[in-house]
Parts: sequence; structure tokens; C-alpha cells
Amino acid sequence: MAADTPLARSESAVDPAFRADVLRGFAMSGQRAIPARWLYDRAGSELFEEITRLPEYYPTRTETALLAATSAEIARHVAPGAVVVEFGSGASTKTPLLLRAIAPAGYIPIDISAAFLRESADALAADFPDIRIEPITGDFTRPIILPDWTAAHPRLGFFPGSTIGNLAPEAAVDLLRTMRASLGEGALLLIGFDRAKPESVLLPAYDDAQGVTARFDLNLLARINRELQGTIPLDAFRHKVVWNDFDSRVEMHLEAQRDITFRIAGQDFAMHAGETIHSENSHKYGARDSRMLLRAGGWSPLYEWSDARDFFTLVLARARARPLAP
Ligand code: SAH
Ligand code: AVI
Repeated sequence: MAADTPLARSESAVDPAFRADVLRGFAMSGQRAIPARWLYDRAGSELFEEITRLPEYYPTRTETALLAATSAEIARHVAPGAVVVEFGSGASTKTPLLLRAIAPAGYIPIDISAAFLRESADALAADFPDIRIEPITGDFTRPIILPDWTAAHPRLGFFPGSTIGNLAPEAAVDLLRTMRASLGEGALLLIGFDRAKPESVLLPAYDDAQGVTARFDLNLLARINRELQGTIPLDAFRHKVVWNDFDSRVEMHLEAQRDITFRIAGQDFAMHAGETIHSENSHKYGARDSRMLLRAGGWSPLYEWSDARDFFTLVLARARARPLAP
């Protein structure tokens, strides 16, 4: 199997893509950055679940309430016998709302956090014995080869959580096009977008009073030390959150509090006090922005549902057959 193939990796093995992204990220001249997907090892997935229950973190409870209120209506647009393919399924906590409403033939959760995905899929299988559940471990930004048995079934992509916002717009469009290719023409996509809103709501959601988001962010450095023989002094870093209005995104950074030197996978690095590693973007979209993004990615928005405060939106879109004219 090629070194960069994410599937069928032994769970104890270090993902070579993680090593490459970390070494590249720390060696960058200018702003250091590591792709946000590496926040999710087992500990990171568990910390994210804790985040979803925080009083300041509005997206999960807002989207869950929205899904509960709209799932029956959504189900009317989905053909019988569908297969639901979920991208970045995590603990699949919202999924039962959808599965109960549409009673699909199959459910394929996809996630990069291998052990967490397997346990979540097992728990779901116990609750839904009539649905064929086949998890796929891997990076959803790569083309996904669905099991052969799904070929005859209508497909519904499910991409909740506003995880699309964790990708820069160019990568988000690439991902939407890849999803369209994986799911096929005529497929539907139910996708969540977090809306732009005042900084006074956004910043506490990413820098909570209990420090859970800080632990989630700092776990990236602990993971590097664990998996890549790192010697990063964790106590030298603090979690820092910035609202970048120009790019309409919340940014998470890990900021060095003093001058430090350390090693990762046998290589030497140095950081000065005040320098940061950019660890995540969370883009916030206006209504027209999210529709435009979907169209650029080959999807035609059909319906959308928002909560009363317009904090969060679910959009149902269809894979476009041909490019729009002109
Ligand atoms: N869908 C859930 C979880 C969102 S957290 C919800 O709405 O609450 C984001 C999830 O996406 C995590 O489980 C993480 O492991 C996964 N993830 C992030 N980047 C990924 C990637 N490139 N490929 C596969 N999974 C990814
Ligand atoms: C998964 N993703 C949509 C979360 C978000 O809100 O961007 C990840 C997260 N990062 C910090 N808190 C939550």
C-alpha cells in the first residue's frame, strides 16, 4: 500500500502525512501552521465532544435543534433506500435524528480519528440493527471509494458541524467537488454552515471559561510529542483565539510564551516569545457566501433552514449534472 494511502493503516503506526505536515508546518518561514485535521487523535476527539457540551459553544446545540425540527421535512426530499455518507462523523451524535427520519438502507461514516470512529459506529449499529453500517477511516479530502453494494442506492451526503468552515475557501471548494465525484450525479448533500455573528459570541465559543478548548488546542502539541518523539515544552504555550474579520474566521493559535528550542522527529526547531503556530480556522459564512461556495463546488442549493437567531444554517443541495451556463 502506498505510504500516503490513509486506509487500512495499523492504528499504532504514525500517519506519515501527520509527520510531513508537522515538520513542514514548523519549518515554515512566516506564519507556522498545521492542518486542523491533526487536532483529532483519540484525546482530541474526546475533547471535541466535551466542547460540544460547553455553554459557550452554541453550534452543536443549535444545529441539533434545527435538525430535530426539520428532519421530517428533509426526509421527504430523500428517495427510499438511500445510503447516508457522513463526512467527519466524530461521535455521530446528530446522526440518529437523520437515520430515524429517513430510515436509510445504509450508513457510511468517514473520519480520520480511527479508534473513535470504530467505537461510535459500533454504538450506532447496536441502536440501528436494520441499517447496514460500514465506517471508513481516512481523510475525507481525498476521493472516497464507496462499497460496491451502495452503487444501486440513492446517496445522501451529510456534512454537519460546520466542519466545512475548518477548510480555507479554496480547499472547501475542492472538497465539495471531491464529494460530488464520490457521491455521484443526482446525489443530495445536507451540510451545516455556521453564520458570521458578533465577536462577543464567537470568541467565548472558542476560548471557554473552563479551558476545554485550550486543552483541545494544546493536545496537538502533546500528540506531536507522543507520536513524533517531540520535546516541545507544553508549559511554554498558551491557546490564543483571534477573530479575523477580513477572512471571516475564528483562528486558533498556539503562542510561545518564552524563547524555546525543541526537537521533533530528530529535527531542531526554535521559536521566539510571541510567535504562534496557527492550528485551526473556523470560517463563518453569510447566506449568500454559503450558497456561492456550494455552487462553486458543483452543488445546487435547494432548501435551507436556520434557527430564529440565524446562528446556524442547514442547506440541502443536489449534485449538479452539468456546469451552469454561461
Ligand atoms: N460531525 C460531528 C463532528 C464534528 S468534529 C459534529 O457535527 O459534531 C470534526 C470531525 O471531522 C472530527 O471527528 C474529525 O476527526 C473529523 N475530521 C476533520 N478533518 C478530517 C479529514 N480531513 N478527514 C476525515 N475526518 C476529518
Ligand atoms: C469541528 N469544527 C466545526 C469545530 C469548529 O467549531 O470549528 C472545531 C472546534 N474548534 C474549536 N472548537 C471547536
